[in-house]
Amino acid sequence: AFPSELVIAIDGPSGVGKSTTSRALAERLGLAHLDTGAMYRAAAAAVDGCGVDPVADPQAVIELVRRARLEVSTVPGRDRVVIDGADVTARIREPRISAMVSKVSTIQPVRDLLIERMRQVVEQCGRRIVVEGRDITTVVCPDAEVRVLLVADPSVRVARRSAELKGAVSRGQVADQVIRRDRDDSVVASFEAPAPGVTVIDSTHLTPEQVVAAVIDLVPAGGGET
Ligand code: DC
Repeated sequence: AFPSELVIAIDGPSGVGKSTTSRALAERLGLAHLDTGAMYRAAAAAVDGCGVDPVADPQAVIELVRRARLEVSTVPGRDRVVIDGADVTARIREPRISAMVSKVSTIQPVRDLLIERMRQVVEQCGRRIVVEGRDITTVVCPDAEVRVLLVADPSVRVARRSAELKGAVSRGQVADQVIRRDRDDSVVASFEAPAPGVTVIDSTHLTPEQVVAAVIDLVPAGGGET
């Protein structure tokens, strides 16, 4: 039956291939795509742009996020992010933002505001969407039709991040970043064990195509349009 509701929730640590997988899935199944990490990154960029110190003044961060107009593209492959009219698509990927985003994303009222926004986006897309993040399977969309925890050995995640950055940053620096991000993000979600009903896919020895195929295998009959 088409169009039927199909929310695919994908969680996992940084560098595990969530974005590549999610985008490919969305394109393949004709679904929208929401990168929730980009929303936290946009909030961090706005905070940084205003010169607010998120550790010293979390209240200012909460107010800023409450008032911010955040627009995220849900068209797969078009990763545009605009906050208060400023296009921050490129800026949110800068090391400066990667290094500070956890300081913003671990403020619970900030999460509550953005989670509400994420759920609105899911509804606006007619619940036909791939949503990627850290707590999508557990908190944002626990009732998703497909719930996946994507994992991979840290060494493989470092190698993938390095390749993505095309040598702009040394391998050692990337390793430090990945390990530090794992630690900082563990406040929000630790990936040692999946929540009940969540399928773990270990991508360490899989190609991107094999990961996509493994997720498609989990789609209930009538959920996709392929
Ligand atoms: O996936 P990413 O690296 O773009 O995520 C950026 C940051 O946002 C990362 O520090 C974890 C945080 N995040 C989160 O707390 N919850 C989510 N659902 C997605 C990302």
